[in-house]
Amino acid sequence: MSKGRILSGMRPTGKLHIGHKSVLDNWKELQKEYECFFCSADLHALTTSFDNPGGIRTNTREMIADWLAAGIDPEKSVIFVQSDVHQHAELHLLLSMITPLGWLERVPSYKEKIQYHHEEGKDIMNYGFLGYPVLMTADILVYRADTVPVGEDQLPHLELSREIARRYNHLYSTVFPEPQAKLAEVPLLPGIDGRKMSKSYNNDISISADTEEIAAKVNAMVTDPNRIRKTDPGNPEVCVVYKYHSIFTAEELEAIAEDCRQGNIGCVACKKYLAQRLNNVIKPIRERRAEIMNKPGYVDEVLYEGSRKASEIAQKTIEMAKNALFNE
Ligand code: TRP
Ligand code: SF4
Repeated sequence: MSKGRILSGMRPTGKLHIGHKSVLDNWKELQKEYECFFCSADLHALTTSFDNPGGIRTNTREMIADWLAAGIDPEKSVIFVQSDVHQHAELHLLLSMITPLGWLERVPSYKEKIQYHHEEGKDIMNYGFLGYPVLMTADILVYRADTVPVGEDQLPHLELSREIARRYNHLYSTVFPEPQAKLAEVPLLPGIDGRKMSKSYNNDISISADTEEIAAKVNAMVTDPNRIRKTDPGNPEVCVVYKYHSIFTAEELEAIAEDCRQGNIGCVACKKYLAQRLNNVIKPIRERRAEIMNKPGYVDEVLYEGSRKASEIAQKTIEMAKNALFNE
């Protein structure tokens, strides 16, 4: 039996944070079983950064360095930049002809995002932004991928991708598999202040942080506010440090909770231990990233080779799609 084919992507936001690690671990596992295509979705970034696109290239390189450092392997997977493979744009156009406006306006994130940006004083009611899920569909279908690992927030987009694929197959002839979402269990890591982790809140920990950054960020984490002295009984349920221990020190979690509740451990020691645990996880990524950055041009080479492989396959799909459309 031939391997299933995966496509997934991330918008290039620059250096990744520790919350992305579980996503990359998941991709790393999938490389063993599937033929994988992973892209930096720079055209998707453009839907909201059209007025400030300058950083997108740099952000892509930083993000790809993190992917490679975390174990995404160019020998196994095709790693590339969306805008380097023009067939994404071409298929997007063909698909846009058969996508009813109503389908797009109904996507829940559409109105939410417009509202969010509007409150920030920015108008993103562009033609391109409305087509965000059509472009995602093109990303997937241009490789005729059957499986798409995504987070829960992307499920409505995947549903739409299936509908568009079905409609194309029905109107012309069967070209595209209907792509299935593959939900990974991604534990939700809060930022150090307890809010959603995000670079814009400055509450994130880099996936390749050095020991100083780790210590500083862990020290700044919000703990049980009712605990004044270290002998006070604490409530781990309201503590960000504990939340992190639940992911990075899982096997000792009960003991930590007990020590906290009994006032046997102080927050300073508890944080110190977490910093150590985090460093164990981050250190190999940090070291591989440093090696990667020491090879001038390496990331660009990977992306060049990736786009070459991707284009070859994407071009075949475009030919199939056009044949179905014009010749029958
Ligand atoms: N929209 C996705 C996100 O914000 C990124 C993305 C772009 C993607 N193209 C894709 C994900 C194709 C899966 C498949 O996370
Ligand atoms: Fe949080 Fe640890 Fe302090 Fe308890 S002891 S409040 S778990 S940092």
